[in-house]
This record gives sequence, C-alpha cells and structure tokens, in this order.
Amino acid sequence: MKVARVTLSDRASSGVYEDRSGPEIERVWTTLGGAEAEWIRVLIPDDFETIVSTLRQLCDEDSCDLIITTGGTGPAPRDVTPEATRAVIQRELPGFGEIMRVRSFEFVKTAILSRSTAGTRGRALIVNMPGNPKAIGECLPLVYPAILEALKHLQE
Ligand code: MTE
Repeated sequence: MKVARVTLSDRASSGVYEDRSGPEIERVWTTLGGAEAEWIRVLIPDDFETIVSTLRQLCDEDSCDLIITTGGTGPAPRDVTPEATRAVIQRELPGFGEIMRVRSFEFVKTAILSRSTAGTRGRALIVNMPGNPKAIGECLPLVYPAILEALKHLQE
C-alpha cells in the first residue's frame, strides 16, 4: 500500500522548527500493527494552491492509496487544509472528523477547534489530522479500523 503523510505548516516548512507530526504519523501507524506501507513524505506551507496541487498529484500521478495530512485544520486565517481537501475530494466522509472531535473532546477541550475532514478521490482516501504531534496518537488509533475498511471498499 502506498501511503503519503503530508505536513501542512508554514513554520516547519520554512525551518523555524522541526516537523514532528509527519514522523509521528509513521510511528503511530507502526504501533497499530500497521498494514505494510510504502511512505511518501511531504512537508509544505499552509498555502491553498500548493495543498490542492500536492493532493491531486499524490492521488492522480503517484497513485497513493491513502494520504494522511497533519496541520492547518484550525480557525487561524492560514488554516486551509479542510478547504483544500474539499476542493480535491469527490466524496466527503465526514465521520472521520466528527469522531476525532467528539472522542478527543473528552480529554482536550480545544479539540472542537479542528475542522478536519476526510474523503475520496478515485480510489484514494484522504484524511486530515490536527497538527499537534500529540494529536496524532490521540486521533489515528480512533480512525485506523475505518481507514483499513475504506481502503478495502475503494478497491472493489
Ligand atoms: N485534537 C487532539 N486530539 N489533540 C489536540 O491537541 N489540538 C486542537 C485541535 N484538535 C488538538 C486536537 C487545537 S488547539 C487546534 S487549534 C485544532 O486541533 C487545529 O489544529 P491544527 O490547525 O494544527 O490542525
């Protein structure tokens, strides 16, 4: 399975700080007994057009089965990941964002600030996660079973 992890961050992509969220996606995926994955690693700024063209390329040219994004889901003016995701997907899967917000809210009251979503483009699944590295460990296990099931359905 080809999996892309895409970090959206102005500051990490310009070297202000290290990207810890992208590597965390791979680490948590592995602890979940993760399906064998060939990883594509991307780090780009919070720029709408860049995100849209990157997601399109990962789906249409690189033939990724799964794209997990991290960052840019909040209320700040530069947070445009959900908008860029919606511009690329053909069908939305709102349950991913809903369950991450509801279950995370039980222990992180700011969880409702994430506008993350998910959806499909062709046979590819795109899932948004919040940008905090800690959020990856809190959210990926919640949606991991549904990711594997969705990928099965997308191969039908
Ligand atoms: N969800 C979890 N599980 N853990 C977190 O630490 N941080 C919240 C929220 N969701 C968080 C979370 C905060 S503070 C914000 S602003 C939003 O995710 C959006 O973060 P992003 O813009 O980095 O994607």
